[in-house]
Amino acid sequence: MTTLADAQAQDAADPLAPMRAHFALPDGVIYLDGNSLGALPKATVTAQEDAVARQWGADLIRSWNSNDWIGAPQRIGAKIAPLIGAKPHEVIVTDSVSVNLFKLIVAATRLRPGRSHILTEPGNFPTDLYTAKGASGILPDHIVHTEQAGDLADALGPETALMMLTHVHYKSGERHDMAGLTEAAHNAGALTLWDLSHSVGAIPVDLNGCDVDLAVGCGYKYLNGGPGAPAFLYVREDLQEEIHSPLSGWMGHAAPFEFRDDYEPAPGITRFLCGTPPILSLLALETGVELFADIEMKAVAAKSAALFDLFVAHVEERCGDYGLNLITPRDAAHRGSHISFAHSDGWPISQALIERGVIGDFRAPDILRFGLTPLYLRFEDVWRAVEILGDILDSGIWREERFAEKAAVT
Ligand SMILES: Cc1ncc(COP(=O)(O)O)c(C=O)c1O
Repeated sequence: MTTLADAQAQDAADPLAPMRAHFALPDGVIYLDGNSLGALPKATVTAQEDAVARQWGADLIRSWNSNDWIGAPQRIGAKIAPLIGAKPHEVIVTDSVSVNLFKLIVAATRLRPGRSHILTEPGNFPTDLYTAKGASGILPDHIVHTEQAGDLADALGPETALMMLTHVHYKSGERHDMAGLTEAAHNAGALTLWDLSHSVGAIPVDLNGCDVDLAVGCGYKYLNGGPGAPAFLYVREDLQEEIHSPLSGWMGHAAPFEFRDDYEPAPGITRFLCGTPPILSLLALETGVELFADIEMKAVAAKSAALFDLFVAHVEERCGDYGLNLITPRDAAHRGSHISFAHSDGWPISQALIERGVIGDFRAPDILRFGLTPLYLRFEDVWRAVEILGDILDSGIWREERFAEKAAVT
């Protein structure tokens, strides 16, 4: 049986342990939902105070120039780039993942005239499926073609304009072979678009090394950018001058302050901006991203793998009789940084856990999901969380009526 002392010994040897002090984590809470909303970096509180009181309050509109608000989307994109194996000018922060998906799906398929399929998988994150369907509706004769993960490579063909996949699955945590599938797509003449929402800041990603064409990702999960933080978008360098955003707003214009009637796309990735950037949210994201500045993603991945192994081992020892079915691959190379169990009573169990201070989440129909965030989670936290899960299952307290009612956000 793994003991608390074993977990504490792992914490004592953890090179990332000092990072936890950078986060404002409430007492009595074990936070296992950083894959949905990252924790608050302490520096964000002071940086937002400065952004609001000084930059907005005192400097007013001058801040667009004097505090370089206007350069924030590119500047923060450049700080995200090393986390995903991209060049600084290949990434920009803007809009939401959903809006960026829409822009890139339309833009990419227009680069492949005569091909009408957008290939993805059933059970992809809903917004990816919905935006693909919405985009195909405004493109001539396009369809969204879905195939199960194992059949994707065979489904590529002369009809495929774009293969659009989420790198790490939001429910199962399963990771696609980005290099292999991208190569297969290119061999079929298709472009690739990867959703990195559950990868960025969690596991190493090498977009350039895998020759990926396009990507998007989320700012409010492992990047700790705050609720509704803006997303990012990546376009491979050599595609940037031929690709065009269908949302041709003024911030993506070559000269927005010349106020011309005719649209002329800005050079490079800037053309994927649309409207005025949300500066306060961008600056919150910047603080979150800066916490990764001196961190090797290899160290993050190694800790994520060790947290996962402890979680699984202790669940098997402590909760083995209660029908928790691990649906996340055990092999670290084939998953992201969360761990999911199917259980027919997943919802009330997740609520009983939250009452005891263990915050994970639930994904319909039956998935208990726990985010393992190496920057601020201790091995001790994982051990204690599993102990509490064991208590809840032993006592059956989750059967009480107050845990049954579904909330709007699960
Ligand atoms: C894979 C994936 N894509 C996209 C999103 C959300 O996109 P948006 O920023 O548009 O809300 C999520 C949110 O959890 C996600 O898991």
